[in-house]
Amino acid sequence: MSAGNIVILTGAGISAESGLGTFRDKGGLWENVALEEVATPEAFARDPARVHGFYNSRRKGAARAAPNAAHDALARLERGWAGEVLVVTQNVDNLHSRAGTTNLLHMHGALHRARCAGCDHKWDAPAVMAPEDPCPSCAAPSTRPDIVWFGEMPHHMHEIFTALAAAELFVAIGTSGAVYPAAGFAAEARRLGARTLELNLAPSDVICDFDDARHGPATRVVPDWVAEMLG
Ligand code: OAD
Repeated sequence: MSAGNIVILTGAGISAESGLGTFRDKGGLWENVALEEVATPEAFARDPARVHGFYNSRRKGAARAAPNAAHDALARLERGWAGEVLVVTQNVDNLHSRAGTTNLLHMHGALHRARCAGCDHKWDAPAVMAPEDPCPSCAAPSTRPDIVWFGEMPHHMHEIFTALAAAELFVAIGTSGAVYPAAGFAAEARRLGARTLELNLAPSDVICDFDDARHGPATRVVPDWVAEMLG
């Protein structure tokens, strides 16, 4: 293919081999924790200490994890591809940037960022956050993780749809296709003229929206695909 723009959507499956659990696979996070108790604005209003505790623990896990061969391969693709490569991640870990990807959008937020629910100021999150922490800008004790919860609008939607419209290729990696709007990106990219490719352990819920698919662990299928792309 020519060196057109590539948009890559990643999900929990790309970080699975770094030791971070996925959400909906057997033994996944949402099997052990009720998402209504930790991942909604209502849960935070009801019990902020519980919600902070959940994200403090995930922040600790993410800090201990290291990027794997799939994250590394995407960073290589960004460096070596003549067109633009944009990674849109649903993941809240920072393994893409630690692998060297720079053109990156965290559509579901990031564990390493904090946000003030009052004034919307954002800053680097400390390792442990608590409900009484004051916002460094307005001093209100209303700090929260910069995480997009169910019922909230994902970040960067305008930039993402602009990139999908200019993409020649859309690739989804390690995502089940269960959560919208991300699950609708393949159909949208295809409607706008891009070729679509799925790289996942198993066929996703939206496999019908892809022109091609390769199924297997991300640490194998992603480096193989990147090697082919870079020739
Ligand atoms: P899911 O847990 O829904 O899906 C993970 C996908 O990764 C599945 O399709 C698996 O087959 C695949 N997978 C597992 N191990 C893999 C491996 N080693 N290599 C490649 N693929 C593998 O996770 P997401 O699709 O990321 O949102 O979930 C989307 C959103 O739902 C998350 O961002 C999160 C969650 O609730 C919020 O919290 C807002």
